[in-house]
Amino acid sequence: MHFQPLQVPLRDGRSAVIREATANDAAALFVLDRAIVRARQGIVKHEDELPPDAATFADQRERAGLTKQDGSAFPLVVEGEGGALLGEASILRIGYRMLRHVGVLGIGVHPEAQGLGVGRLLMRHLLQWVRAHRDADGQRVLRVELHVRADNARAIALYRALGFTHEGTRRAFLRADDGTLVDDFLMGLLLTDPEGT
Ligand SMILES: CC(C)(COP(=O)(O)OP(=O)(O)OC[C@H]1O[C@@H](n2cnc3c(N)ncnc32)[C@H](O)[C@@H]1OP(=O)(O)O)[C@@H](O)C(=O)NCCC(=O)NCCS
Repeated sequence: MHFQPLQVPLRDGRSAVIREATANDAAALFVLDRAIVRARQGIVKHEDELPPDAATFADQRERAGLTKQDGSAFPLVVEGEGGALLGEASILRIGYRMLRHVGVLGIGVHPEAQGLGVGRLLMRHLLQWVRAHRDADGQRVLRVELHVRADNARAIALYRALGFTHEGTRRAFLRADDGTLVDDFLMGLLLTDPEGT
């Protein structure tokens, strides 16, 4: 089931389009990813750990399964008025049959577009899309999970507002630039209830 593109208002008065990501977005997603990592907020990678070029990045997305068209990947982007990508979010299902009802969520908003409602829009529409999806045999995603740094208050507030709960802590999971050890949280949302997003 494909996502129908939607025009959406942002908090600064501008509008944007939320749509399904395609393989053609790889170069723009590469630029977006770099900008998010360079801002050093909420992320776990350094810039020099990113793929060196857009082609390698595209290859990694493909190998991760994010470009699959078989109902195992749900990638969304928000495109600004000038055509640049303001944010992206995806849910990727785990391949094993016993785990296929589990989707792993990732999200990132361009530093210059943060706080405008892009993250909330992406989360809301992504969860709606996944809730509505049914496989040919009627199966669907029943659990969405994510990992978030314990010091990422903005992201945690957003996830909680959408019903995600804290399920566990990986203590001292990452070492910040100043050497501080930071926990990270596993958060989960069950889609077994009839409503929710
Ligand atoms: C976390 C992130 C996805 C949120 O997206 P965003 O577009 O900036 O957030 P929104 O403008 O949609 O705000 C969503 C919610 O975040 C919370 N929020 C926003 N700004 C906040 C702040 N400065 N402090 C605490 N919470 C804040 C609010 O709960 C807000 O809800 P509201 O819509 O009721 O105001 C985005 O900031 C981001 O990509 N950050 C860097 C990378 C990252 O942290 N990714 C997530 C890794 S798990």
